[in-house]
Amino acid sequence: MNKSLTFLGIETSCDETAAAVVQKDSQGNVKILSNIVSSQIDEHLKFGGVVPENAARAHAEKIDIIIKKALQKSKLSFKDLDGVAATAGPGLLVCLMIGLSAGKSIAAILKKPFLAINHLEGHALTARIFNKISFPYLLLLISGGHTQFLIVEGVGKYKRIGTTIDDALGETFDKTAKMLGIEFPGGPKIEKFAKLGDENFFNLPKPIIHHPGCNLSFAGLKTAILQITRTIKNQKQKNDLAASFQKTINEILYLKCKNAMKQFTNQYKNKNKIFVISGGVASNKSIRKNLDDLSIEMNFKNFFPPIEFCSDNGTMIAWAGIERFEKGIKDKLDVIAKPRWPLDPSAAFLKGAGVKY
Ligand code: KG4
Ligand code: ZN
Repeated sequence: MNKSLTFLGIETSCDETAAAVVQKDSQGNVKILSNIVSSQIDEHLKFGGVVPENAARAHAEKIDIIIKKALQKSKLSFKDLDGVAATAGPGLLVCLMIGLSAGKSIAAILKKPFLAINHLEGHALTARIFNKISFPYLLLLISGGHTQFLIVEGVGKYKRIGTTIDDALGETFDKTAKMLGIEFPGGPKIEKFAKLGDENFFNLPKPIIHHPGCNLSFAGLKTAILQITRTIKNQKQKNDLAASFQKTINEILYLKCKNAMKQFTNQYKNKNKIFVISGGVASNKSIRKNLDDLSIEMNFKNFFPPIEFCSDNGTMIAWAGIERFEKGIKDKLDVIAKPRWPLDPSAAFLKGAGVKY
């Protein structure tokens, strides 16, 4: 029988200061004992986005209290922990260092195992907190900094089969919002405005949509939106643009996910067809519905994490810590923060001008 494991997870890679206590019991049941997330929205509103120095200062001010709250809410004390996990990358270096140092210090004082977590692996494994999902599965990771199709073959084993060649999807939502004069963070607000508009009003481009494979591109769409926003005069037109943008994103994701599902099916002929989404943009209900319909059409069973666990949180970091620890992995306390840390190091870097897709 497996041992019960209780981990503290700490996340400070961007603009959420988060900590959580997660327990996996000897039967394999998972309990989220606490999940404390402190967003820095007010701090970044004034600047229209995340300024790394400001974000780091806010993390430094709050990290102790957030960890304390996570412990209090879990009704456990430090000595009850079996390990500490903290995000070590990718993300903003000055932000990562705050949570990583806090995690390493706690682990050192407690003399408990420490796990340095790849933030993207946190997102990739989140769905397994809520369902017993077997490997391999197809993952669409859509966050503020990343947009990728990955085949999750196991803990620490990822094959990237598609990626954005320019902007990430969350970034595209946020920039579209900014161009429409919608305050930071724009993604969730675009979803709200889109419900009020006519999705067929603007005909927006879908870059590289007819290229085979499942790479994505959003830069051309962003430029088209910039041109339209210059002509927009009233709230109705803003709603129409938000709705047309949401529809265009759904069409792009639908086609590219379909390609990814076909590729998964060809590559893993005798395996269950499982589709998972994660990352902040996976909170978007319209995208969830669109990809749920596609899963049915393609005969894929899907697992979408609850909305509150799609955006950055400490639970996914604690959970990735548990998953890695169960594989016999532990990290040394001299591990450093890594601003760039791909899940599939063998995949080509495809961003920037002149990329070939
Ligand atoms: O995963 P996440 O919390 O942080 C990163 O790892 O980047 O994702 C944040 C991104 C932001 O760009 C935010 O605007 C976007 O997720 N987002 C949304 C929604 N909620 C958050 N985008 C579209 N619709 C939403 N409902
Ligand atoms: Zn994230």
